[in-house]
Amino acid sequence: MTERTTEGAGTVAGEPAAEAPLLRVRDLHKVFVHGGKQLHVLRGVDFVIHRGEMAALVGASGAGKSTLLHIVGTLDAPTAGRVEFDGRDVSRMDSRSLAVFRNRTIGFVFQFHHLLPEFNALENVMLPAIIARRPREEARSRAERLLGEVGLGERTTHRPSELSGGEQQRVAIARALVMEPRLLLADEPTGNIDSQTAAGIHELLFSLNRRHGTTMIVATHDERLAAKLPRRLEIRDGQVVRDTGAVLPCVELPAVPGPPPPAPAAGD
Ligand SMILES: Nc1ncnc2c1ncn2[C@@H]1O[C@H](COP(=O)(O)OP(=O)(O)O)[C@@H](O)[C@H]1O
Ligand SMILES: [Mg+2]
Repeated sequence: MTERTTEGAGTVAGEPAAEAPLLRVRDLHKVFVHGGKQLHVLRGVDFVIHRGEMAALVGASGAGKSTLLHIVGTLDAPTAGRVEFDGRDVSRMDSRSLAVFRNRTIGFVFQFHHLLPEFNALENVMLPAIIARRPREEARSRAERLLGEVGLGERTTHRPSELSGGEQQRVAIARALVMEPRLLLADEPTGNIDSQTAAGIHELLFSLNRRHGTTMIVATHDERLAAKLPRRLEIRDGQVVRDTGAVLPCVELPAVPGPPPPAPAAGD
């Protein structure tokens, strides 16, 4: 029997979502209650991200960048407002479907890489695929390919403690990509490494976007990185105060591997 998958098809039963952008954030609010006090961190955040975009999320420390990424990544729920993928409101999904959705759709890279210390680089990268119950050999070959792409083909059996900070972050990026996520969320990915190593990570993110068409939102206060990204979303006082607007890639690559696009018509 052939298994069919609708993964990446961009449609949801009952909703004509073919035209929907990859991500739409609508009137998002987040209130934390801490020590009896209310902290209104997000106060009506709206934006749209199209497939293949690379956007910088900037704002002062405490502006709510991590909070926003966590909500977009479905790790935390908004107090009000909604997050839509392909026109589908993820806040209406139950926690089990949400966990599956997150594992398949979103990749996270954090400032502190959160690699598991007792596993080597290869095993760390394989882990999301193993959790998703992909065949072990497939998980292994994907992980090996990605470690090669991030320049760590010779480090697959090193544990995190046997890698430099920049190498650890590369492993974390490979791990975030092993499920071929449609959206990569990076929270201060170069916040904890020296500037030369950071430059290498920036290049890596760009090349992954070019090669795989991975859509990315990168929270950063590294101006060198933010300045290089095609789009800039700036948050202040809980709102997007500046958005330089979508810059679509010259060539839109499929989010999931598929047949090559047809050759352009001659003489066009
Ligand atoms: N779980 C939480 N409980 C209470 N306050 C929080 C929580 N998470 C974040 N905050 C507060 O929300 C604000 C925004 O935090 P954060 O999103 O981490 O900012 P940024 O990533 O832009 O530095 C900060 O003032 C922070 O102290
Ligand atoms: Mg933060």
